[in-house]
This record gives sequence, C-alpha cells and structure tokens, in this order.
Amino acid sequence: MRIDIISAVPDLLESPLNHSIIKRAKDKGLVEIHIINLHDYGKGSYKQIDDYGFGGDAGMVIKPEPLYRAITDLTSQRKYDQVIYTSPDGGMLDQGMCNSLSTCGNLIILCGHYKGIDHRIREHLITMEISIGNYVLSGGELAACVICDSIIRLIPGALTDETSALSDSFQDGLLAPPIYTRPADFMGWKVPEVLLSGNPRLIRRWQEEQAVERTRKLRPELLDNPCIENNN
Ligand code: ADE
Repeated sequence: MRIDIISAVPDLLESPLNHSIIKRAKDKGLVEIHIINLHDYGKGSYKQIDDYGFGGDAGMVIKPEPLYRAITDLTSQRKYDQVIYTSPDGGMLDQGMCNSLSTCGNLIILCGHYKGIDHRIREHLITMEISIGNYVLSGGELAACVICDSIIRLIPGALTDETSALSDSFQDGLLAPPIYTRPADFMGWKVPEVLLSGNPRLIRRWQEEQAVERTRKLRPELLDNPCIENNN
C-alpha cells in the first residue's frame, strides 16, 4: 500500500507516522507513506496557498490552484483507489470503512486547514470525505494520522500476532472482552477464575458473553445497528 498525504503543516504528521506499528509496517515494506508539503505547490515567491473566502465569512480558504497541482501531480504518476479529504462533513470513520480501506493499493489523503478548501476541489477531485468524529479539529492532520493508524494495523503482517487485529473491539461489531495479565491476584483484585482454567472452550464462551455484556452496558447502540453482524 502507498499513502500520499498532502498537508499545509507536514511537521504535524512526522512523529505519529514514524513510530510503533506504522514504523514497523514501513520497515517491513508493507506500506509507503509520502508526505507532501502543500506550500511546495503554492503561488509566487511567498508560496501562497490560502486567500480570503468569497461571501465575507471570516477565515482563510485554501486556494484551488495549489490543491489541483498537488493532487494531479500524484494522479498523473499512478492510479489511486481514493482521493480522501479529511473533514467533519465526511462519512464517519468506523471499523468497516477501515477494513475496506486497508485493502486499497494507493490512497491520497488531503488534510484540510484554515476554514477549509475551495469547494470546487471537493466536487471535482475528491472521491471520499472522512470525518473522525462530530467535533471540529484545527486541521485534518490528526484525522489523517487516525485514518493511517487504523488501516495500516489491518494489513496482514503489520501486527506481530496476526490474530490480534481480529479480536479488536468492533471487528465483530462488539466491544472487546476484558483482558488480564500476571499476577493472577494483585492486591486482592483477582483475575476471573475461568481464565485460569486452561479450558479454551469455556474461556472463549466467557469472552463472548463479556463482549456482549460490555457492549450492552457501554455502547448499546452498537447492538441496534442492523449493518453490524454480531452474535445477538
Ligand atoms: N477536520 C476538522 N475536523 C475534522 C474531523 N472531525 N474529522 C476529520 N477531519 C477534520
């Protein structure tokens, strides 16, 4: 997989995309991430990328020319599965969307900034808009990092124990069951007996019951969602 991220503040992307599972996936050659500085496509000696919005609203808008040049520079070199724009207006990122994006070959992620981008670019060049929640961030870079992290960990080989992505919360439409490690008794707080039983069938059944119970208690709306397959 190749991900090209276009940003007006590329430094914001550096650390989150260069550690832990993402770094390992890059080192293993499972993913290439290229960060493109939008200012490189800016106009004139000041490399201008923004301007006042028409209509008198407060706030700067990213101009269409640098966006057009940055996106078409990439799309003229290879085919992309999606040209994503991070925006609170977009479809809400969920595990289903992550699973499907993780099977893509090439993706562009355009990070919004200031008041947003000229709408003509959204109409003509963007193929998918993604929101990471019903709140407004100062820019799309953190959203781009969330998108990258949530999809890269699903690429086969990115996690050391491949089955662990399958047991993540949401993979079966349910929250994950509680997990424990040694010691079995910490200050009198005991690990549930069944987990020490050594009986895989009993343990699996307990984990399934806990997943349903926790979902019912903490996120009951997940059980009402007919799009999500679960054991209920
Ligand atoms: N940019 C600003 N807010 C955002 C959000 N909630 N999701 C994605 N991109 C954004």
